[in-house]
Amino acid sequence: MNHSQGEAFSRYLAWAKQCSDAPFNLASSGVLDYPLSELPVLMEDLEISGTGSYGYQPLIKRLAAKAGVPEECVLYTLGASMANYVALTALIHPGDEVLVENPTYDPLLAVLDHLRAKVQRFERRADKGFRLGLGELERKLTPRTCLVILCNLHNPSGALTEDATLREIGDMAAKVGARVMVDEVYLETLFDQRWRSAFHLGPNFVATSSLTKAYGLSGLRCGWILASRELVDRMWQVVDLTYGIPAHPAERLAVIALDHLHRIRDRARSLLETNRAMINQFLADHPQLECEPSRFGTTVFPRLRTLKAAEFVTLLRERFETSVVPGAFFEQPQFIRIGFGRQTEMVRAGLERISAALSTLAPVQP
Ligand SMILES: Cc1ncc(COP(=O)(O)O)c(C=O)c1O
Repeated sequence: MNHSQGEAFSRYLAWAKQCSDAPFNLASSGVLDYPLSELPVLMEDLEISGTGSYGYQPLIKRLAAKAGVPEECVLYTLGASMANYVALTALIHPGDEVLVENPTYDPLLAVLDHLRAKVQRFERRADKGFRLGLGELERKLTPRTCLVILCNLHNPSGALTEDATLREIGDMAAKVGARVMVDEVYLETLFDQRWRSAFHLGPNFVATSSLTKAYGLSGLRCGWILASRELVDRMWQVVDLTYGIPAHPAERLAVIALDHLHRIRDRARSLLETNRAMINQFLADHPQLECEPSRFGTTVFPRLRTLKAAEFVTLLRERFETSVVPGAFFEQPQFIRIGFGRQTEMVRAGLERISAALSTLAPVQP
């Protein structure tokens, strides 16, 4: 695809759509697709067109109940992608200053570029397991900052940010009149552990999420934003400027999926438990990769101690039919992101191939 200078686009998404697939795909960050045939869908539950207004009430109702928030604080939209786009469009004016974690999910930066925001960064340090530290963030917050943006769980590392830390960030941001937007698409993989959306932490929080990553329901494109009622009203206006109304059959299917989320969650939980044990054993067995064991989420983000990561990704692809995400897409060229949410057998075979590729490299000095 060609792009003229100045046009915002996400290099990562272009790569993910065109180049990431492989027989052993460890580039994907979502849980294995959930098949339609396992949902109890009856023809009479579906319809082609709905009311066409601001949200299909049965869906709003379920999303509000799931998050424990008032219905007027929910806007649903096409995946977390559109949730991020709509929320940022409503929150940012050209020239506004925003503070974004580094590393981050590349499309967030692309949307900010599109909106002509002034982007400042704060670091999540690899030697701290990419956990959020507050010192630099506090120093960089100024009265010009209008928004702090972070992902919880963090993409690419899967690091969890606890409520207490988020609350501190919310307080620091509130002092300069800024909001905090938290992309929670991977937080859903905590399943029934005790967690609540950052929306609950204070009036200046906005949260985005979707059913994509944790449940294998990407095709439903069921994403949402949790925000104050006033912001939600503004966000529906932004929706009017884009796709207008969603595909109604997808709204109906999302309602059915939400009514059966327990079974979808059970499958995902057990898959991730098995695969997490496997990836952690793999990391322990390979000193060429520097990475804390995975505790949450669907991805790990190790640093390669030998060879340039880009060369290793090419080697993996060309000789071992295996794909992982080059860290360059997260501005960390010496890292790779390995996803482990797919079929256990495929993940196992992919890890064996990474192991074989690593064994062709010079050994790491102790
Ligand atoms: C942090 C983050 N947010 C949003 C998305 C997009 O999610 P969805 O498929 O729901 O649009 C992704 C997908 O990789 C992601 O990693």
